[in-house]
Amino acid sequence: MVRAQFTFPRGFLWGTATAAHQVEGGNAASDWKAWEREPGRVLGAHTSSRACEWLQGRYIEDFDRAVADGHNALRLSVEWARIEPEPGRWDAAALQFYRAQLLALRERNITPMVTLCHFTQPLWFMERGGWETPACIQLFERYVQKVAAELGDLCTLWCTINEPNAYVFAAYVAGVFPPGRHNLLLAQQVHLNQLRAHAAAYYALHAARPDARVGWAQYLRGFVAARPGFPPDRWAANWQHQLFNMGWVNAVHSGRFRMLQRSVPVPECRGTCDWLGVNYYTRDLVAFDLRRPFELFGRRQYAPADVLSENGFIASHPAGLFRALEEMQAFGWPMFVTENGVEDAPDSMRPAYLLEHLRALWQAVCFNYPVHGYFHWSLVDNFEWERGWTQRFGLYALDVETQVRTPRRSAQLYAEICRANAISAETAQRYAAPLAGSMFPGSMLAG
Ligand code: BGC
Repeated sequence: MVRAQFTFPRGFLWGTATAAHQVEGGNAASDWKAWEREPGRVLGAHTSSRACEWLQGRYIEDFDRAVADGHNALRLSVEWARIEPEPGRWDAAALQFYRAQLLALRERNITPMVTLCHFTQPLWFMERGGWETPACIQLFERYVQKVAAELGDLCTLWCTINEPNAYVFAAYVAGVFPPGRHNLLLAQQVHLNQLRAHAAAYYALHAARPDARVGWAQYLRGFVAARPGFPPDRWAANWQHQLFNMGWVNAVHSGRFRMLQRSVPVPECRGTCDWLGVNYYTRDLVAFDLRRPFELFGRRQYAPADVLSENGFIASHPAGLFRALEEMQAFGWPMFVTENGVEDAPDSMRPAYLLEHLRALWQAVCFNYPVHGYFHWSLVDNFEWERGWTQRFGLYALDVETQVRTPRRSAQLYAEICRANAISAETAQRYAAPLAGSMFPGSMLAG
């Protein structure tokens, strides 16, 4: 076999991503903990419970796994509800807990990326109106100032808010996250308030730490016209793309935030991006449908020929990752892929999904798009929000009862790539033989 390989630039960051609520457990003061207790909110009445027991210190064994697998970066989040369980009261033990995590990463030569808000908020914050009122800006800023003062010496890569667009959709349109609303106008207001809170956090971090590199993680979903020759489908797909994917991106670029009914000046947000996080999982076909105003008149579905994940949640479309990076590079910001992965307990789809998405990433790098790292979702199976424990995104399988972690084959595959900083034809052949020939044309012929 020819020894072909796709090599990544020196210093490329390879890691996994996770979020506090999904791995820590026992997050009593947060809106999600209360939400989980309400009947019907989470599939199978699952709760985060003790999650992956990071609170009990199991993050140490997980960091050891990451190191052993050749990772050099890890994205995690800190929990606002833990750090500020009541307005203005800071919990020293919580801050100490996060200091210990960051120190443990540094001791292992793993670069941390810290997300300040990943889908969960303190209950007291939500009771005061949460992101619906402009007061959220100052409250978030105060929290970020505290975190920067306490943890800023241990981290430079800061992610202000995870997937503001996905959060707003889940919490204010689909109603599957707290506060469970179905209100498009409110959704836009929340999206705007969060954008301003992001800008305040950006400046707070820079004021506290001149070396801070601040961005956010944008969920970018592919939207493609179901019938490319049918203009209404193209219009619906483009509208979803502009409103869902591009709202914040355009606002941070231009200083204007486009809403359904008007465009709002947000000069303070302009340029508040040292790097852009791209979270990419899948793409939809969009068909124009007048009966779906809540979906912006576009019916979304996967294509009949799509390769679907275990529960049909994700369709594998690696070209969508390349396209997302291509579109984003035009803004000139450095980028990281801050999430990408697939739910797949038997690990039958993940090896090919991983290889094909990493090849798309490599192509983007070869086009000189400024992508500096990749964070796979996730290291260990964790609590998947309204889908509970029914979806398994981990490179390591978790037995929630015993807390035993078992590596899936993909853990080993990813480890080989991280260690080599490259994907070799031989690795592709071993983990996804049917794919290897198309990934490395010619290289399989030599035998
Ligand atoms: C979220 C994660 C979530 C993952 C898989 C992402 O959109 O940021 O919190 O676990 O999707 O569902």
